[in-house]
Amino acid sequence: MWTGRSLLSMSSVDAGEARALLALAHGDAWRGDEFGGKVVANLFFEDSTRTRVSFSIAAEALGATVVDLTSKGSSVAKGETLLDTAWTIEAMGVDCMVVRAGQSGAAALIDEHTKCAVVNAGDGTHQHPTQALADALTIGRSFGRESDWDFAGLKVAIVGDVVSSRVARSNVGLLRALGAEVVLVGPPGMVPGSQAALGCSLSDDLDFTLGGVDAVMMLRIQFERGGGGVLASTREYHARYGMSEARAGMMKEGAVVMHPGPMNRGVEIAAAVADGERSVVLDQVGNGVLVRKAVLAKALS
Ligand code: CP
Repeated sequence: MWTGRSLLSMSSVDAGEARALLALAHGDAWRGDEFGGKVVANLFFEDSTRTRVSFSIAAEALGATVVDLTSKGSSVAKGETLLDTAWTIEAMGVDCMVVRAGQSGAAALIDEHTKCAVVNAGDGTHQHPTQALADALTIGRSFGRESDWDFAGLKVAIVGDVVSSRVARSNVGLLRALGAEVVLVGPPGMVPGSQAALGCSLSDDLDFTLGGVDAVMMLRIQFERGGGGVLASTREYHARYGMSEARAGMMKEGAVVMHPGPMNRGVEIAAAVADGERSVVLDQVGNGVLVRKAVLAKALS
């Protein structure tokens, strides 16, 4: 999970460390001046709303200074490489770089070639560790697991374009480490070909799965990464794999519907469910700020 002070991946998670981080985020006991004088740089080479804004809010809540850099409006648009950009920003005296990029492995590459802490804010189809932490905080709070962050007995379905999803990959690593059972649901081509690939059970039957899970995490089809190539139409996809009101009605009492965002209403999730009583989508967003405070605190320490 951590490589020194850098958070790059959830592929190998120390459960004790993850639980301590969730407890820190849940406690949210910051004075607001802990990291005065520290500088956090958001290097976002790919679009973002939730992750970029919440890292900024989190860093400022810890007393750090935030600088924001996006591809558009920076020298990246003139052809400057990822590494030249990172070295340039590091030379200005930055303590932590938060990196979002379209290339899988981008954050690890920058971590390898710089001395400051690096936090992966989503790299290609690879990993999105702080989204997984926000999701775990949301699940723990939804099911009263705040005392130990032990998810034994909880079953989570991740539904849709799993193969394109860095959120799914990070969630699988973290949720399984915390003790949850995970089932990946989607049409052939959108879920891994073999159960061994991610250590989860697989299903192509959402209706059959719904009654047995505590949380359903709906995923956007990542058309920008080639996802959705197997689809006849988004209408057909919604009919078979969309979270409709009827499907939300098939879930257990107390079960929750999640989505990391951005949502495509009417495709993977109906608007009435996104805004309905089972939805914890905005809790996920709020919890994103809490986990990013905890992650930055460790990265800056
Ligand atoms: N969930 C997520 O990463 O959203 P953004 O792309 O808006 O940051």
